[in-house]
Amino acid sequence: MSEKLLFKDIDEPGLNTLSVYERRSGFQALRKALQMAPEDVLAELEASGLRGRGGAGFAMGKKVSFLPKGSMDKYLVCNADESEPGTFKDRELMQKNPHMLIEGIVIAAHAGGANTAFIYVRGEYEQQARILDAALAEALDAGYIGERILGGEFSCSVVLHRGAGAYICGEETGLLDSLEGKRGNPRLKPPFPANRGLYQGPTLINNVETLSTVPTIMRMGGAEYAKLGVQTSTGTKLVSVSGHVQRPGNYEIELGIPSREIIYGLAGGPPEGREIKCWFPGGSSAPVLTPEDLDVPYDFDSLGKAGSMLGSGAIIVVDDSTPIVEVAMKVAKFYRHESCGKCTPCREGTNWTVKMLERIDSGEATPMDLDIMASVQEHIIGNCLCVLGDAMAMPIGSMIAKFRGEFEAHIESRRLEPAHA
Ligand SMILES: Cc1cc2nc3c(=O)[nH]c(=O)nc-3n(C[C@H](O)[C@H](O)[C@H](O)COP(=O)(O)O)c2cc1C
Ligand code: SF4
Repeated sequence: MSEKLLFKDIDEPGLNTLSVYERRSGFQALRKALQMAPEDVLAELEASGLRGRGGAGFAMGKKVSFLPKGSMDKYLVCNADESEPGTFKDRELMQKNPHMLIEGIVIAAHAGGANTAFIYVRGEYEQQARILDAALAEALDAGYIGERILGGEFSCSVVLHRGAGAYICGEETGLLDSLEGKRGNPRLKPPFPANRGLYQGPTLINNVETLSTVPTIMRMGGAEYAKLGVQTSTGTKLVSVSGHVQRPGNYEIELGIPSREIIYGLAGGPPEGREIKCWFPGGSSAPVLTPEDLDVPYDFDSLGKAGSMLGSGAIIVVDDSTPIVEVAMKVAKFYRHESCGKCTPCREGTNWTVKMLERIDSGEATPMDLDIMASVQEHIIGNCLCVLGDAMAMPIGSMIAKFRGEFEAHIESRRLEPAHA
């Protein structure tokens, strides 16, 4: 991938300051957008085909179009919670290029008619929050946010809100409750936030990367942007590559390139002498894929067809030095800890799964326990209020299906250890 859009200037010293950002054509896209009617800005977003970069991959332009028309209090919320294990791309965007995010927020707010915007940043991102605070102060001084932006009719305040470190507050409705000062519990949907979101008002919620892409779309034009990538996955995407690779980090790729090019080409593949056992293509919520899947194009639909998902774009590579039981345990413990406890299949299912994995690891389990554990996962999927339950059940189910032999061997070897013999 040669073309860089989000990371074009990412290593420019001082890019987080307004003067350097402006020198790099910063806020020109906003100037252009404010000359246009909101529906024309929306048309560009729709033409771009941009799909949400936070996990679900929903078309951004369509989401904006769901906001009711007319004069009423509407909100825009930027999801900067970035809690999906393995995901660290939004952090780099906020840290190094905060004004691009602010510019994207104001353009999207103009398209949707929102006059108040919030950035909900995860509590652990203290450094990024301080950088955003400074950038917001500069943008306010320069008239890019606040009352009568650039002397025109449109006004939009942008407020930074720090979370307190809960994964569930990244789920959009949990986030809204948390922003309102309540415990961050997911809400029943419908109604969807576009109709009834923050303070019961129409609300557009988008991820940091999604909103950071908006200035580029305005600059290039939606149709031109849509030429990048593949038909149903347009544009470029940031991928966070971690785990057993030689060059972990964030990379910008054009959607649709073979996954192998990312894992081996960009990230250097596994350490010398090691083989890949499995990889999560889209964060720890994504069903695992194996080395046979390395040529699957990295885009929303191809990864879906391969039985997994693009999710947040976090590729976690696991090599053959790690027992699969250990991987499953890490995943299950994370979701057990983060379950809000509201619905039974998620609350009990995550706990049961950890307990069964502990039995497997301690040599007390039998192969029949694997069938029970697989069936627990099936009973969680689709039966919860939000998808946190599925986020554990899908990867665990995939590990049991693809590595059953290794689970069985683990049970047998533990059973034969002196303490159990
Ligand atoms: C349990 C859970 C955690 C989530 N965490 C995040 C997150 O940290 N950041 C994020 O952008 N989206 C997260 N999402 C997805 C959001 O609910 C929502 O789909 C997203 O913010 C929409 O933005 P987008 O359309 O730009 O992707 C999470 C979803 C679930 C179910
Ligand atoms: S699925 Fe889990 S996290 Fe989501 S609402 Fe139910 S109990 Fe809470």
